[in-house]
Amino acid sequence: MKKFNVVIVGGGSTFTPGLLKGMCSRKDTFPINRLVMYDIDANRQQKIGEFAKILLKEEYPEVHFSYTTDKAKAFTEDIDFVLCQMRTGGYAMREKDEKVPLSKGLIGQETCGPGGFAYGMRSIGDMIELVNDVRAKSKDAWILNYTNPAAIVAVALKEVFPKDNRILNICDQPENLLRSYGKLLGVHERDFEPVYFGLNHFGWFTNLYDTEGNDLLPELREKILDGGFRPADAEQRDQSWLDTYAMVEQIVRDFPDYLPNTYLQYYLYPDQVLKKLNPDFTRTNEVQAGREKRVFKDCALAVEAGTAKDCDVVQNDAHGEFILFVAESIAYNKGNNFIVILKNDGLVSNLPEDAMVEVAASITANGPRPFAVGEIPTFYKGLIEAQYAYEKLTVEAYLEKSYGKALQALTLNRTVVSAAQARKVLDALVVANKGYWPELN
Ligand code: G6P
Ligand code: MN
Repeated sequence: MKKFNVVIVGGGSTFTPGLLKGMCSRKDTFPINRLVMYDIDANRQQKIGEFAKILLKEEYPEVHFSYTTDKAKAFTEDIDFVLCQMRTGGYAMREKDEKVPLSKGLIGQETCGPGGFAYGMRSIGDMIELVNDVRAKSKDAWILNYTNPAAIVAVALKEVFPKDNRILNICDQPENLLRSYGKLLGVHERDFEPVYFGLNHFGWFTNLYDTEGNDLLPELREKILDGGFRPADAEQRDQSWLDTYAMVEQIVRDFPDYLPNTYLQYYLYPDQVLKKLNPDFTRTNEVQAGREKRVFKDCALAVEAGTAKDCDVVQNDAHGEFILFVAESIAYNKGNNFIVILKNDGLVSNLPEDAMVEVAASITANGPRPFAVGEIPTFYKGLIEAQYAYEKLTVEAYLEKSYGKALQALTLNRTVVSAAQARKVLDALVVANKGYWPELN
């Protein structure tokens, strides 16, 4: 069995321990030869890297492991998979993405609305650099990318590297939803065959087939309307995530055709959601007080003890597992069914060809072989077309350094709408992102 050379970009992420644990538990199905963790933040990287040494020594000693802040050491000739989860500007900038819009009375969120716009304008440049760095040495490496806002990153990379078919943008939220549906229905999430359409963080499940071909979506809809909706791993979730999942019930009541991605709450009920957001304590603050603290503390304890045996740094981690499932399906041409982001090209027949849509696909050694969705109803088409126009204009604003396009993008975003508000928040974000964004003219 071939063993793979893997690079994790964003090695110092709070999500890395979950990924490492996933690698340990999947060593028989996805064997690793060499693992390099790369991050530009030496401090975070070292904390997770030292934990990784202990964990791998105990659970996966055959892996050749190292961590580095030197990209020349990370991006070598023989990489098979780059698992990418970078966050340009770190949590400090995520906090601004949330707080600057909130200071203008707008939704402040990591990937949605003006915050997502700001984050996109930071991520695009670093992602282009990453692809160039990887391709300079490893022409055939698969780049599996979680970097957010995945919707905008996907549009930008398709524009800049139109012929590169080994970049796959993914998001774990549809998989998280499948797990949560599975819990309600008593079905294992990998036994669903979902039909899904939309953009990243902007999509809908239309059908949820079981292994016998029965569509369980109608039953699930009734369960949600009767008893609400919770994440599969509710015990481990912060309150804000529980609130987010709870909103699914309201969305289903108003728009019962399909089951929504949770991120649609920001676009469908911006006023209502805004009232729940605390401008003095946003999701970043919640993550820093919770997951971040816990992960770094647990890693430090394991290093101190010299063993990771009693360390429960990750519990239920769909994030870490999902990217490995996808890698495995590519590595062994398994053709497993996952929801991923790719060029529309007629899959949703009444959406633009060049949109980067999120749909179910069979994942093979030659990449995703997507399942066509066909025509979607006017309401969903209208929502998605405006959101795609926003994404495309964001990428054009970045590439052309255009203030005008940035203003158009934000005006089209359903969490903004007013052009006057768009200008206000844009001007504030320009200041907050100085040094990260190109200068807009
Ligand atoms: C989900 C989304 C990711 C997002 C993450 C944020 O997994 O799919 O795109 O980055 O949530 O989670 P956090 O716990 O950091 O708010
Ligand atoms: Mn996501």
